[in-house]
Amino acid sequence: MEKENSRIEIVGMEDQRVWPFIQQVPMASRALLFGWDRLRPVEFVGLALDDEGSVIGLATLAPTDESGEQPRPTIIGVWVVPAHRKQGVGPALMKALSQQCLESYKMAPTADAVSVDGLKLCRRCVDAGIQLEYNNGVLLGMRLP
Ligand SMILES: CC(C)(COP(=O)(O)OP(=O)(O)OC[C@H]1O[C@@H](n2cnc3c(N)ncnc32)[C@H](O)[C@@H]1OP(=O)(O)O)[C@@H](O)C(=O)NCCC(=O)NCCS
Repeated sequence: MEKENSRIEIVGMEDQRVWPFIQQVPMASRALLFGWDRLRPVEFVGLALDDEGSVIGLATLAPTDESGEQPRPTIIGVWVVPAHRKQGVGPALMKALSQQCLESYKMAPTADAVSVDGLKLCRRCVDAGIQLEYNNGVLLGMRLP
C-alpha cells in the first residue's frame, strides 16, 4: 500500500512549509479540512515530501478533539496533491501520525471522515494494521478536490 519512497517528516505548525502548502489547497477542501480555527489544537503536522523535498501531502494531529476540550487525539485534516494520489501517500501520512500519536499521547488517534475518499482511506489504513479509530458521522458523500 505504501509507496516505496514516500518520505514523511513530522513538524510543528510553525514550520515554514505548512501554511504555504495549505494556502494552495483548493478552497472547498481548505475550508472543510483546514478552515476557520480547526487547526487551533494541532501539535503535529505530517508532511509528505517528493524526491526533491517538495511537499506533496499533509495531515495534522491534535491531542484533543477538534473543540480542544476532549482528550481524544484526532487527525484533523489530510490532503494529498491530486497528481500524487493513488500511490500510498495518504496511508503513509496516516501511519506516521498514528505512530507519533501512540508515542506522544499513548493512544491511537481518531479521524472523522468527511469525504468518500477519506472514509476509504481510513478503512484501508485499519485493514493494513495502522492503529486508528474512525467515524463517518459527518460524511458528506462526495469527493473533495
Ligand atoms: C483521501 C486522500 C488523502 C487519499 O490519499 P491517497 O494518497 O490518494 O490514498 P491512496 O494512495 O490509498 O489511494 C487511494 C486510491 O488509490 C488506489 N491506489 C493506491 N495505490 C495505488 C497504486 N499503486 N496504483 C493504483 N491505485 C492505487 C487505492 O486503492 C484507492 O482506490 P479507491 O479509492 O478506488 O479505493 C486523497 O484522495 C485526498 O487528498 N483527497 C481530497 C481530500 C480528502 O478527501 N481528505 C480526506 C478528508 S476525511
